[in-house]
Amino acid sequence: MIPHRRNSHVPGRYNPIGRLNSICPYYTMFPLQFPFRQLLRAQPGDWVLDPFCGRGTTNFAARLLNLPSVAIDSNPTATAIASAKFVSVRPEEVVRTCSSILARRKAPADVPQGLFWRLSYHPRSLQEICKLRESLTRNCSSPERIVLRALLLGILHGPLQKTSPSYLSNQMPRTYATKPGPAVRFWLKKKLRPPCIDVLDVVKKRAYYVLSELPPRTKGFALRADSRKVSNRQVSQRFRWVITSPPYLGMRTYVPDQWLRNWFLGGPSDVEYVQDGQIGSESEDAFVTDLAAVWKRISTFCLAGAHLVVRFGALPSLNQNPAELLRRSIAHANSGWVVRTIKAAGRASQGKRQACQFARKTKRAVEEIDLHAVLET
Ligand SMILES: C[S@@+](CC[C@H](N)C(=O)[O-])C[C@H]1O[C@@H](n2cnc3c(N)ncnc32)[C@H](O)[C@@H]1O
Repeated sequence: MIPHRRNSHVPGRYNPIGRLNSICPYYTMFPLQFPFRQLLRAQPGDWVLDPFCGRGTTNFAARLLNLPSVAIDSNPTATAIASAKFVSVRPEEVVRTCSSILARRKAPADVPQGLFWRLSYHPRSLQEICKLRESLTRNCSSPERIVLRALLLGILHGPLQKTSPSYLSNQMPRTYATKPGPAVRFWLKKKLRPPCIDVLDVVKKRAYYVLSELPPRTKGFALRADSRKVSNRQVSQRFRWVITSPPYLGMRTYVPDQWLRNWFLGGPSDVEYVQDGQIGSESEDAFVTDLAAVWKRISTFCLAGAHLVVRFGALPSLNQNPAELLRRSIAHANSGWVVRTIKAAGRASQGKRQACQFARKTKRAVEEIDLHAVLET
Protein backbone atom coordinates (compact mmCIF):
# COMPACT_ATOMS: atom_id res chain seq x y z
CA MET A 1 0.00 0.00 0.00
CA ILE A 2 1.39 3.41 -0.99
CA PRO A 3 0.39 6.21 1.38
CA HIS A 4 -1.53 8.98 -0.31
CA ARG A 5 -0.12 12.45 0.31
CA ARG A 6 -3.18 13.35 2.37
CA ASN A 7 -3.11 10.11 4.34
CA SER A 8 -1.95 11.09 7.81
CA HIS A 9 -1.03 7.55 8.89
CA VAL A 10 2.69 7.10 9.47
CA PRO A 11 3.64 3.64 8.22
CA GLY A 12 4.11 1.65 11.42
CA ARG A 13 6.72 -1.06 11.94
CA TYR A 14 4.35 -3.71 10.60
CA ASN A 15 3.75 -1.88 7.32
CA PRO A 16 6.33 -3.16 4.77
CA ILE A 17 6.49 0.19 2.98
CA GLY A 18 8.27 1.78 5.96
CA ARG A 19 10.89 -0.94 6.41
CA LEU A 20 13.62 0.56 4.23
CA ASN A 21 13.94 3.25 6.90
CA SER A 22 15.19 0.62 9.36
CA ILE A 23 17.91 -0.73 7.04
CA CYS A 24 20.54 0.41 9.56
CA PRO A 25 20.03 1.97 12.99
CA TYR A 26 21.81 5.16 14.00
CA TYR A 27 22.55 6.56 17.44
CA THR A 28 20.09 9.38 18.33
CA MET A 29 17.90 8.79 15.26
CA PHE A 30 14.47 10.37 15.63
CA PRO A 31 11.20 8.50 14.97
CA LEU A 32 9.82 8.53 11.42
CA GLN A 33 6.55 9.97 12.65
CA PHE A 34 8.22 13.26 13.65
CA PRO A 35 9.26 14.46 10.15
CA PHE A 36 6.29 12.67 8.55
CA ARG A 37 3.72 14.61 10.60
CA GLN A 38 5.50 17.92 9.92
CA LEU A 39 5.59 17.25 6.19
CA LEU A 40 1.88 16.53 5.96
CA ARG A 41 1.57 20.33 5.65
CA ALA A 42 3.91 20.47 2.62
CA GLN A 43 2.71 21.19 -0.91
CA PRO A 44 3.51 18.96 -3.90
CA GLY A 45 6.96 19.80 -5.24
CA ASP A 46 8.27 21.38 -2.00
CA TRP A 47 11.95 20.51 -1.48
CA VAL A 48 12.96 19.22 1.97
CA LEU A 49 16.41 19.54 3.59
CA ASP A 50 18.00 17.87 6.60
CA PRO A 51 21.46 19.40 7.27
CA PHE A 52 22.14 16.88 10.12
CA CYS A 53 20.52 13.91 8.41
CA GLY A 54 21.95 10.94 10.37
CA ARG A 55 20.31 7.84 8.88
CA GLY A 56 18.07 10.00 6.63
CA THR A 57 14.80 9.70 8.53
CA THR A 58 13.56 13.08 7.27
CA ASN A 59 14.41 12.10 3.70
CA PHE A 60 12.55 8.82 3.98
CA ALA A 61 9.50 10.65 5.40
CA ALA A 62 9.70 13.05 2.42
CA ARG A 63 9.83 10.10 0.02
CA LEU A 64 6.74 8.55 1.63
CA LEU A 65 4.94 11.80 0.88
CA ASN A 66 6.35 12.04 -2.64
CA LEU A 67 8.50 15.10 -1.84
CA PRO A 68 12.04 15.66 -3.17
CA SER A 69 14.78 16.08 -0.55
CA VAL A 70 18.48 16.51 0.24
CA ALA A 71 20.34 14.88 3.16
CA ILE A 72 23.60 16.34 4.51
CA ASP A 73 25.88 14.93 7.21
CA SER A 74 29.62 15.03 7.84
CA ASN A 75 29.77 11.45 9.18
CA PRO A 76 30.43 8.93 6.37
CA THR A 77 28.26 6.30 8.07
CA ALA A 78 25.30 8.67 8.13
CA THR A 79 25.44 9.51 4.42
CA ALA A 80 26.04 5.88 3.44
CA ILE A 81 22.79 4.93 5.20
CA ALA A 82 20.88 8.02 4.04
CA SER A 83 21.87 7.35 0.37
CA ALA A 84 19.93 4.08 0.51
CA LYS A 85 16.73 5.99 1.40
CA PHE A 86 16.59 7.40 -2.13
CA VAL A 87 17.03 4.12 -3.98
CA SER A 88 14.65 1.59 -5.52
CA VAL A 89 15.92 -1.91 -6.00
CA ARG A 90 14.56 -5.44 -5.77
CA PRO A 91 15.83 -7.76 -3.02
CA GLU A 92 16.97 -10.40 -5.50
CA GLU A 93 19.24 -7.83 -7.22
CA VAL A 94 20.92 -6.99 -3.92
CA VAL A 95 21.36 -10.67 -3.06
CA ARG A 96 22.77 -11.39 -6.55
CA THR A 97 25.30 -8.55 -6.18
CA CYS A 98 26.37 -9.82 -2.76
CA SER A 99 26.63 -13.39 -3.98
CA SER A 100 28.74 -12.46 -7.02
CA ILE A 101 31.19 -10.46 -4.86
CA LEU A 102 31.52 -13.35 -2.42
CA ALA A 103 32.00 -15.86 -5.24
CA ARG A 104 35.24 -14.19 -6.39
CA ARG A 105 38.22 -16.43 -5.73
CA LYS A 106 40.64 -13.68 -4.79
CA ALA A 107 41.16 -13.34 -1.03
CA PRO A 108 40.73 -9.84 0.40
CA ALA A 109 44.02 -7.92 0.56
CA ASP A 110 43.29 -6.32 3.92
CA VAL A 111 42.02 -8.41 6.85
CA PRO A 112 42.52 -6.70 10.22
CA GLN A 113 44.44 -8.64 12.87
CA GLY A 114 44.47 -8.63 16.68
CA LEU A 115 42.44 -9.77 19.67
CA PHE A 116 39.47 -7.48 19.01
CA TRP A 117 39.02 -8.81 15.49
CA ARG A 118 39.52 -12.45 16.56
CA LEU A 119 36.83 -12.09 19.21
CA SER A 120 34.41 -9.90 17.26
CA TYR A 121 34.04 -12.01 14.09
CA HIS A 122 34.49 -15.65 13.21
CA PRO A 123 37.46 -15.89 10.76
CA ARG A 124 35.20 -17.10 7.93
CA SER A 125 32.68 -14.28 8.43
CA LEU A 126 35.54 -11.74 8.67
CA GLN A 127 36.99 -12.92 5.34
CA GLU A 128 33.59 -12.44 3.71
CA ILE A 129 33.06 -9.04 5.32
CA CYS A 130 36.49 -7.91 4.09
CA LYS A 131 35.78 -9.12 0.56
CA LEU A 132 32.57 -7.10 0.50
CA ARG A 133 34.30 -4.09 2.06
CA GLU A 134 37.02 -4.14 -0.58
CA SER A 135 34.56 -4.37 -3.46
CA LEU A 136 32.11 -1.76 -2.14
CA THR A 137 34.79 0.80 -1.27
CA ARG A 138 36.11 0.46 -4.82
CA ASN A 139 32.71 0.90 -6.45
CA CYS A 140 29.44 1.89 -4.85
CA SER A 141 27.60 3.72 -7.60
CA SER A 142 24.74 1.38 -8.58
CA PRO A 143 21.44 1.19 -6.60
CA GLU A 144 22.13 -2.46 -5.69
CA ARG A 145 25.54 -1.60 -4.27
CA ILE A 146 24.26 1.47 -2.37
CA VAL A 147 21.56 -0.64 -0.70
CA LEU A 148 23.90 -3.61 -0.11
CA ARG A 149 26.37 -1.29 1.62
CA ALA A 150 23.69 0.21 3.92
CA LEU A 151 22.29 -3.24 4.64
CA LEU A 152 25.76 -4.57 5.58
CA LEU A 153 26.29 -1.55 7.86
CA GLY A 154 23.02 -2.51 9.54
CA ILE A 155 24.02 -6.14 10.21
CA LEU A 156 27.72 -5.51 10.94
CA HIS A 157 27.21 -5.51 14.71
CA GLY A 158 24.36 -6.24 17.07
CA PRO A 159 23.13 -8.65 19.74
CA LEU A 160 23.79 -12.38 19.51
CA GLN A 161 20.64 -14.31 18.69
CA LYS A 162 19.70 -17.70 20.07
CA THR A 163 17.81 -18.71 16.94
CA SER A 164 18.51 -17.50 13.39
CA PRO A 165 21.27 -14.82 13.42
CA SER A 166 20.52 -11.25 12.31
CA TYR A 167 23.99 -9.75 12.94
CA LEU A 168 27.51 -10.78 11.99
CA SER A 169 29.38 -9.92 15.20
CA ASN A 170 29.88 -11.21 18.70
CA GLN A 171 27.58 -9.49 21.24
CA MET A 172 27.47 -5.71 20.60
CA PRO A 173 24.94 -2.90 20.60
CA ARG A 174 23.27 -2.14 17.26
CA THR A 175 23.29 1.63 17.29
CA TYR A 176 26.98 2.22 18.08
CA ALA A 177 30.12 0.06 18.19
CA THR A 178 31.84 -0.59 21.49
CA LYS A 179 35.50 0.47 21.60
CA PRO A 180 37.97 -2.44 21.26
CA GLY A 181 39.23 -2.42 24.90
CA PRO A 182 35.83 -2.58 26.67
CA ALA A 183 34.45 -4.99 24.03
CA VAL A 184 37.31 -7.47 24.52
CA ARG A 185 37.04 -7.27 28.33
CA PHE A 186 33.27 -7.86 28.12
CA TRP A 187 33.56 -10.87 25.77
CA LEU A 188 36.34 -12.47 27.84
CA LYS A 189 34.45 -11.95 31.11
CA LYS A 190 31.24 -13.43 29.68
CA LYS A 191 33.13 -16.11 27.72
CA LEU A 192 31.41 -15.01 24.50
CA ARG A 193 32.84 -16.31 21.23
CA PRO A 194 32.00 -14.96 17.74
CA PRO A 195 29.39 -17.02 15.91
CA CYS A 196 30.24 -18.58 12.52
CA ILE A 197 27.79 -16.83 10.23
CA ASP A 198 27.12 -17.19 6.54
CA VAL A 199 27.04 -13.51 5.49
CA LEU A 200 24.93 -14.19 2.39
CA ASP A 201 22.22 -15.89 4.48
CA VAL A 202 21.84 -12.85 6.73
CA VAL A 203 21.96 -10.44 3.76
CA LYS A 204 19.23 -12.45 2.03
CA LYS A 205 16.98 -12.50 5.09
CA ARG A 206 17.41 -8.78 5.66
CA ALA A 207 17.08 -7.77 1.98
CA TYR A 208 13.77 -9.59 1.56
CA TYR A 209 12.52 -7.96 4.77
CA VAL A 210 13.51 -4.31 4.19
CA LEU A 211 12.92 -4.24 0.43
CA SER A 212 9.67 -6.18 0.20
CA GLU A 213 7.72 -3.01 -0.61
CA LEU A 214 9.13 0.43 -1.40
CA PRO A 215 7.54 3.86 -1.81
CA PRO A 216 7.92 5.37 -5.30
CA ARG A 217 11.29 7.06 -5.87
CA THR A 218 11.53 10.80 -5.45
CA LYS A 219 14.25 13.23 -6.51
CA GLY A 220 17.12 13.93 -4.16
CA PHE A 221 20.48 12.80 -2.80
CA ALA A 222 22.67 12.47 0.28
CA LEU A 223 25.78 14.62 0.55
CA ARG A 224 28.74 14.19 2.86
CA ALA A 225 29.62 17.72 3.91
CA ASP A 226 30.00 20.09 6.84
CA SER A 227 26.69 21.98 6.93
CA ARG A 228 28.42 25.12 8.18
CA LYS A 229 30.28 25.34 4.88
CA VAL A 230 28.18 23.57 2.26
CA SER A 231 28.43 25.41 -1.04
CA ASN A 232 26.02 26.47 -3.79
CA ARG A 233 27.84 24.16 -6.14
CA GLN A 234 26.98 21.22 -3.90
CA VAL A 235 23.35 22.19 -3.32
CA SER A 236 21.42 24.15 -5.93
CA GLN A 237 17.86 23.33 -4.78
CA ARG A 238 15.59 25.85 -3.04
CA PHE A 239 13.93 24.42 0.06
CA ARG A 240 10.54 25.06 1.62
CA TRP A 241 11.16 22.70 4.56
CA VAL A 242 14.13 22.07 6.84
CA ILE A 243 13.49 19.32 9.38
CA THR A 244 16.44 18.33 11.50
CA SER A 245 18.01 17.42 14.84
CA PRO A 246 21.51 18.78 15.51
CA PRO A 247 23.93 17.10 17.91
CA TYR A 248 23.38 18.13 21.52
CA LEU A 249 25.89 20.46 23.17
CA GLY A 250 28.93 18.30 24.06
CA MET A 251 27.82 15.36 21.88
CA ARG A 252 30.93 14.83 19.79
CA THR A 253 31.05 11.07 19.55
CA TYR A 254 29.17 10.34 16.32
CA VAL A 255 32.30 9.40 14.38
CA PRO A 256 34.15 7.39 17.10
CA ASP A 257 30.88 5.68 18.09
CA GLN A 258 30.47 4.49 14.49
CA TRP A 259 34.11 3.47 14.15
CA LEU A 260 33.34 -0.11 13.03
CA ARG A 261 30.92 1.02 10.35
CA ASN A 262 33.37 3.71 9.27
CA TRP A 263 36.04 0.99 8.98
CA PHE A 264 33.68 -0.94 6.68
CA LEU A 265 33.40 2.19 4.55
CA GLY A 266 37.18 2.22 4.07
CA GLY A 267 38.29 3.89 7.31
CA PRO A 268 41.01 2.68 9.71
CA SER A 269 40.71 -0.57 11.70
CA ASP A 270 40.89 1.25 15.05
CA VAL A 271 38.95 4.09 16.66
CA GLU A 272 39.82 7.50 15.29
CA TYR A 273 39.00 10.41 17.55
CA VAL A 274 38.97 13.00 14.76
CA GLN A 275 36.17 15.52 14.91
CA ASP A 276 36.67 17.30 11.60
CA GLY A 277 33.37 18.63 10.32
CA GLN A 278 31.49 17.75 13.52
CA ILE A 279 29.85 20.31 15.77
CA GLY A 280 29.01 19.61 19.40
CA SER A 281 31.65 21.49 21.37
CA GLU A 282 31.25 21.57 25.18
CA SER A 283 31.78 25.32 25.18
CA GLU A 284 28.38 26.96 25.02
CA ASP A 285 29.57 29.97 23.03
CA ALA A 286 31.44 27.88 20.45
CA PHE A 287 28.43 25.59 20.08
CA VAL A 288 26.01 28.49 19.59
CA THR A 289 28.36 29.98 16.97
CA ASP A 290 28.60 26.64 15.12
CA LEU A 291 24.85 26.07 15.07
CA ALA A 292 24.29 29.67 13.99
CA ALA A 293 26.67 29.11 11.07
CA VAL A 294 24.43 26.24 9.88
CA TRP A 295 21.18 28.25 10.21
CA LYS A 296 22.80 31.10 8.30
CA ARG A 297 24.26 28.87 5.59
CA ILE A 298 21.01 27.00 4.94
CA SER A 299 18.96 30.20 4.89
CA THR A 300 20.68 30.96 1.57
CA PHE A 301 19.23 27.72 0.14
CA CYS A 302 15.70 28.36 1.43
CA LEU A 303 12.72 30.16 -0.08
CA ALA A 304 11.10 33.08 1.75
CA GLY A 305 8.49 31.63 4.11
CA ALA A 306 10.44 28.35 4.48
CA HIS A 307 9.87 26.34 7.66
CA LEU A 308 12.67 25.28 9.98
CA VAL A 309 11.64 22.54 12.42
CA VAL A 310 14.28 21.44 14.92
CA ARG A 311 14.11 18.68 17.49
CA PHE A 312 16.72 19.32 20.13
CA GLY A 313 17.66 18.25 23.65
CA ALA A 314 20.55 18.19 26.10
CA LEU A 315 22.92 15.69 27.65
CA PRO A 316 21.70 15.03 31.20
CA SER A 317 25.22 15.62 32.58
CA LEU A 318 25.49 19.17 31.19
CA ASN A 319 22.37 20.62 32.82
CA GLN A 320 21.45 22.76 29.80
CA ASN A 321 18.25 24.44 28.72
CA PRO A 322 17.90 23.27 25.08
CA ALA A 323 15.25 25.87 24.18
CA GLU A 324 17.46 28.71 25.36
CA LEU A 325 20.49 27.39 23.49
CA LEU A 326 18.56 26.99 20.26
CA ARG A 327 17.01 30.45 20.53
CA ARG A 328 20.45 31.94 21.05
CA SER A 329 21.85 30.15 17.99
CA ILE A 330 18.99 31.42 15.81
CA ALA A 331 19.39 34.97 17.08
CA HIS A 332 23.16 34.75 16.52
CA ALA A 333 22.62 33.59 12.91
CA ASN A 334 20.71 36.81 12.27
CA SER A 335 19.66 35.51 8.87
CA GLY A 336 15.88 35.94 8.79
CA TRP A 337 14.70 32.93 10.83
CA VAL A 338 11.93 34.00 13.20
CA VAL A 339 10.98 31.60 15.98
CA ARG A 340 7.22 30.95 16.01
CA THR A 341 6.80 28.17 18.61
CA ILE A 342 8.78 25.98 20.98
CA LYS A 343 6.98 22.89 22.30
CA ALA A 344 7.94 20.03 24.62
CA ALA A 345 8.61 16.81 22.68
CA GLY A 346 9.09 14.25 25.46
CA ARG A 347 12.23 12.43 26.53
CA ALA A 348 14.77 10.82 24.22
CA SER A 349 15.54 7.28 25.32
CA GLN A 350 17.04 5.72 22.20
CA GLY A 351 19.92 3.34 22.73
CA LYS A 352 19.49 3.31 26.47
CA ARG A 353 18.79 -0.35 26.98
CA GLN A 354 21.61 -1.43 24.66
CA ALA A 355 24.02 1.08 26.14
CA CYS A 356 23.45 -0.38 29.59
CA GLN A 357 24.72 -3.79 28.43
CA PHE A 358 28.16 -2.30 27.98
CA ALA A 359 28.03 -0.30 31.19
CA ARG A 360 27.57 3.09 29.51
CA LYS A 361 26.05 5.18 32.24
CA THR A 362 22.99 6.98 30.89
CA LYS A 363 21.19 9.29 33.30
CA ARG A 364 17.52 10.05 32.74
CA ALA A 365 17.35 12.01 29.48
CA VAL A 366 16.43 15.70 29.47
CA GLU A 367 13.11 16.58 27.87
CA GLU A 368 13.49 17.40 24.16
CA ILE A 369 11.86 20.37 22.43
CA ASP A 370 10.53 21.04 18.95
CA LEU A 371 11.23 24.52 17.64
CA HIS A 372 9.45 25.96 14.62
CA ALA A 373 10.84 29.02 12.84
CA VAL A 374 9.93 30.69 9.56
CA LEU A 375 12.27 32.46 7.15
CA GLU A 376 11.21 36.09 6.87
CA THR A 377 13.42 38.06 4.56
C1 LIG B 1 21.11 13.88 16.24
S1 LIG B 1 22.00 13.25 14.86
C2 LIG B 1 20.77 13.24 13.58
C3 LIG B 1 19.94 11.99 13.60
C4 LIG B 1 18.87 11.97 12.53
N1 LIG B 1 17.77 12.89 12.84
C5 LIG B 1 18.31 10.55 12.34
O1 LIG B 1 17.10 10.34 12.46
O2 LIG B 1 19.12 9.65 12.11
C6 LIG B 1 23.03 14.60 14.46
C7 LIG B 1 23.91 14.40 13.24
O3 LIG B 1 24.63 15.60 12.98
C8 LIG B 1 25.83 15.24 12.31
N2 LIG B 1 26.74 16.41 12.31
C9 LIG B 1 27.46 16.92 13.32
N3 LIG B 1 28.12 18.01 12.92
C10 LIG B 1 27.83 18.21 11.61
C11 LIG B 1 28.19 19.19 10.63
N4 LIG B 1 29.01 20.19 10.93
N5 LIG B 1 27.67 19.08 9.38
C12 LIG B 1 26.84 18.07 9.06
N6 LIG B 1 26.46 17.11 9.94
C13 LIG B 1 26.95 17.18 11.20
C14 LIG B 1 26.30 14.03 13.09
O4 LIG B 1 27.23 13.27 12.33
C15 LIG B 1 24.97 13.30 13.33
O5 LIG B 1 24.74 12.35 12.34
